[in-house]
Amino acid sequence: MNEAKMNTVEAMPDPSRRKFLNTAAFAGLAGAGLSVGLSACNKESTPAASSAAAPAAAPAAAPSAKAASSGLHTHMAPGELDTYYGVWSGGHSGECRILGLPSGREIKRIPTFNVDCMSGWGITNESKKIIGTRPDGRLKYMTGDTHHVHGSYKDGTYDGKYFWVNDKIHSRLARIRGDVFECDAITEIPNIQGFHGIFPDRRDPVDASINYTTRVFCGNEFHLPKPNDGRDLDEPEKYGTLFTCVDAETMKVRWQVKVDGNMDLVASSYDGRFAASNQYNTEGGARYEDMMSAEMDACVFFDVARIEQAIKDGKFYTVGDSNVPVVDGTKAANTDPKTALTGYVPVPKNPHGVNATPDGKYFICSGKLSPTTTTIDLAKVADWFDGKLDDIRKAVVAEVEVGLGPLHTTFDGRGNAFTTLFLDSQIVKWNIEKAIQFFNGDKSAQYVVDRIDVHYQPGHINASMGETKEADGQFLAVGCKFSKDRFLPVGPMHPENEQLIDIRGEKMVLLADHPVHPEPHDFVIVKRELIHTKQVCNLDDHPLAVKDAKDSGVFRDGNKVTVKIASLAPAYTLREFTVRQGDEVTIILTNLDKIEDLTHGWAIPQYDINFTVNPQETKSVTFKADKPGVFWCYCTHFCHALHLEMRTRMLVEAA
Ligand code: CUA
Ligand code: CA
Repeated sequence: MNEAKMNTVEAMPDPSRRKFLNTAAFAGLAGAGLSVGLSACNKESTPAASSAAAPAAAPAAAPSAKAASSGLHTHMAPGELDTYYGVWSGGHSGECRILGLPSGREIKRIPTFNVDCMSGWGITNESKKIIGTRPDGRLKYMTGDTHHVHGSYKDGTYDGKYFWVNDKIHSRLARIRGDVFECDAITEIPNIQGFHGIFPDRRDPVDASINYTTRVFCGNEFHLPKPNDGRDLDEPEKYGTLFTCVDAETMKVRWQVKVDGNMDLVASSYDGRFAASNQYNTEGGARYEDMMSAEMDACVFFDVARIEQAIKDGKFYTVGDSNVPVVDGTKAANTDPKTALTGYVPVPKNPHGVNATPDGKYFICSGKLSPTTTTIDLAKVADWFDGKLDDIRKAVVAEVEVGLGPLHTTFDGRGNAFTTLFLDSQIVKWNIEKAIQFFNGDKSAQYVVDRIDVHYQPGHINASMGETKEADGQFLAVGCKFSKDRFLPVGPMHPENEQLIDIRGEKMVLLADHPVHPEPHDFVIVKRELIHTKQVCNLDDHPLAVKDAKDSGVFRDGNKVTVKIASLAPAYTLREFTVRQGDEVTIILTNLDKIEDLTHGWAIPQYDINFTVNPQETKSVTFKADKPGVFWCYCTHFCHALHLEMRTRMLVEAA
């Protein structure tokens, strides 16, 4: 079924392997703990790559000679600033991170779905309110799994206002403010599990004056009974998935679409008309083996304006106790293209990743279990929805072999695509127009431009500004899932390896390895000119700010006690304060220092409290004073020559 012939710059050593991975092969690979599959492809890779089973201390072949020859400036001299922000997911650490690029230096961790005792995220009242609590005040969730980070757009490029990231575990979408790089909102999406890809829209499909992000689209991998309340457990035919739209400003869920199959990544078109998600398990299997039988899955397209009109027209239902309108986007309900809310473009096989080219013309899906990438022409998809194309598969303008285990694609803005090959441990650079020529029958079209080994088993990839129309083709980062021998051995848990590659020339050049705490998935690389941060907070941002040292004190209302304190280096405004055993104590701490970088901390021994307050920032904590005694509340954050002296006694009188 795949007539495309291999087209490579170098002969492949074992062409017989380079066919579809069938169910048995993939199951076997997984069953063997990946080692069979990985070592098999490693023999085609660098000598270092074959050392999966070798002692961890074995030195890798040094790529540094190549790195030195690139000329791309990655080493920042002392005091020198990076030219790009890397906004990174942190995977099952539950956090996000900011890296400076191209140096790869980690500048900030943004606690998001996790608990962080540096900033006090998950400890302060303000952060608990964002994360959500149970009736007893404990956090609703302690865990999170961030995968996909994307920023808000204006005119097809980042405006620096927001970034969003998903939590796959508990189906939540978090928003991060681009001016302070802190999470300010979290929304739980109803009736889904396995919330995976996200993508903001880039303009409104109806109102041409809205040329910026107002929606965030969310994919959904795992089939689930609807509602999932125990009535249907083992009846997979009653399971389904929902594609979700969240309002970018209010963070409220706007609508959902029921679809066939499991959705993975998400992309949005530059003109605002379409969102799309690549799909596997169009078979609707509930068990692993049942999800890989079909040769073709799909990339499902959503006509955003039609969906929103259908909801206005009342053509929706709701699920369980959710009041979010749900429209029917299944294939069976959308057979007439002219009224269809969704269109399913067939793509081989368990595809992974869908990415929009910077010129806005194409979406590219990777085959994962097929060694191909599929290029979908958005104008032809529009033709199908407009009744001008009889078969939506005809929107596929190229489907060419690129290597084993293709996953994600990024772009240099010069017509080239870069696709990660998980099983080959490579990145393949290929030319999109040449691939279209080859697919159209010109077998002399050399669409593969270059290949490079990466270390090892790459997942996500993103080039500088690669998700925007300003893709600048400077460098890319690739998230390698296995680091094996690339770093000093530190025991059984290995870091991931984020590698940096120069893509300015015809040939890719490997520049650097960076160990990262597991495990980043997706990330975006943003020109620093587009980010405008506030380096000092505003006192008025918190309604309870202690704006004057004179406002400090202990305020009692029955057994509820509010302690208002300010910090001003090197002291707190209260030298001590007294509460009674059994009181519910709320401490409100405002940092009155105005100088940039003058952060204070606040820790209370045995009460499990620790947080920081930045200049002009206010945070609060609430706890029960259940232990009598003397408790030295002290500053945890080095702030002054007298930092060690900065402390306050909390005296808890025995009841
Ligand atoms: Cu205040 Cu250290
Ligand atoms: Ca790993």
